[in-house]
Amino acid sequence: MARLSILPPVAPAPFLIIGSGIAGLYTALQLSSVGQVVLLTKDRLEESNTAYAQGGIAAAIDPQDSPQLHYEDTIRVGVGLCIPEAVTVLVHEGTERVRELIQYGVPFDLLEGIPALTKEAAHSRRRILHADGDATGREISRSLTRHVAENPRITVMEETMVISLLMEKERCQGVLAVLADGSLKAFASSATILCTGGCGQVYATTTNPSVATGDGIALAYLAGASVSNMEFIQFHPTALYFPPAPRFLISETVRGEGGLLRNTRGERFMPNYHELAELAPRDVVSRAILQEMERTESDRVYLDLSSLTPEQIRNRFPNIFETCLQYGLDITEEKIPVAPAAHYLMGGITTDLTGQTTIPGLYACGETADPGVHGANRLASNSLLEGLVFGHRITEALRQSTPTVPYITEDISYNLKQETSPETITSDRRFLQELMSAQMGILRHGDGLVKSLETLSPPEQEATTICLTPAYIELQNLRTVARLMIKSALIRRESRGSHYREDYPSTDPTWRRRTIISGSKVDYWPIPDE
Ligand code: SIN
Repeated sequence: MARLSILPPVAPAPFLIIGSGIAGLYTALQLSSVGQVVLLTKDRLEESNTAYAQGGIAAAIDPQDSPQLHYEDTIRVGVGLCIPEAVTVLVHEGTERVRELIQYGVPFDLLEGIPALTKEAAHSRRRILHADGDATGREISRSLTRHVAENPRITVMEETMVISLLMEKERCQGVLAVLADGSLKAFASSATILCTGGCGQVYATTTNPSVATGDGIALAYLAGASVSNMEFIQFHPTALYFPPAPRFLISETVRGEGGLLRNTRGERFMPNYHELAELAPRDVVSRAILQEMERTESDRVYLDLSSLTPEQIRNRFPNIFETCLQYGLDITEEKIPVAPAAHYLMGGITTDLTGQTTIPGLYACGETADPGVHGANRLASNSLLEGLVFGHRITEALRQSTPTVPYITEDISYNLKQETSPETITSDRRFLQELMSAQMGILRHGDGLVKSLETLSPPEQEATTICLTPAYIELQNLRTVARLMIKSALIRRESRGSHYREDYPSTDPTWRRRTIISGSKVDYWPIPDE
């Protein structure tokens, strides 16, 4: 096996941000007021989960609304696992952060001169701001990307894949990355902020783009950081099911504006499952759809938009309308075939309320982080808000801290693994995705989880063995994250929110605690009372 050594000094970058979704872009902009920022992204700056977010961003900006109501909705949907203090921070600071987005020029849709607000599942009020109808993430991403590109204190490096965190004296001192030309470069940094998004790609069917491979979670875990609540993955109830069209998200706001769910027999079923019917929490709707598909021996249900006029559909959901039309489905005339798909990870790298992970010098923000705001089930449209609120908090914490000088003094050595063929990587990735969809989907069972964990036994080589192909690194990250998810799901012997164990179907009050994994150690943190 070849050996690679990196000798100091390495390129210094006071603040290093990994990832270019809302958390990465916004935190970069904020931190540029404190010092120089280097932003590394494995794809292009515009490619992230954020860019695919449709529904919007939740904030209690309406005079009829309040952060307290937003707090209560979030806590209720999180089924006892939200950390009350984290949610308080989210809903109270969120309104100011959304106003900043408006100042950054995000063109939110307006109604009589003020932001138009829509509704999503389990919100007791209309409080979701949206842009270009159903392309909120794309518009936020565009506005922030423009500011980042124009900011002289931010250096962006695209197609740069981080393969390892550089640790010395138990502190994160930067990262090692493969650049676009295939060369390796080490970046030393006084603070490294992981904003690498989610991991929907561990599943065969997901609303997430192909870049959502849980990279930050794998990097942090392998460097010794704690990760929490990895069993809680949210399935979005309504992803397009119209093969060969991709599993495109059909926003929950479609149901918020009156869309109804019907089974293949044309029966409306959600009122039989929950008093909020189509606007019940996502875990409830996804399980109900699964039951209806089983009952009617079908692989889909339908979203019926007949309460909206064709003009309303085209104006309010231009992106969904156009995309479906491209695949030959005119949603002003026909019902939309849908089925659930993996959508959002509620757990992630454990952080405190300033984004600090359990490793000094390492921060995490956005979907990759778990500061405790989502609990067992995320309230719709709280995720973009989370990226802003905690990105701001990380900035303020770093503004007040004394910058440390990156401290890489010793030769860092890695074993270089021979490249695996692209065909093998693709088929291994597919195998993992099918396994996770079968055993770690909406319904889980201990027997299947045990077998899956055995199948995905850890790679033989240690963390200091690397391969330089981004596709191979992604596969390894997916495997690491999948193992953490299964392990957490096995540990939690109850059903709660998005985690449903067929062998433990009840919610057990003694399980009102966070599952924390670091290395081979498992810990449980009780959730403080409100
Ligand atoms: C949606 O538009 O349904 C997705 C919004 C979210 O996941 O928060």
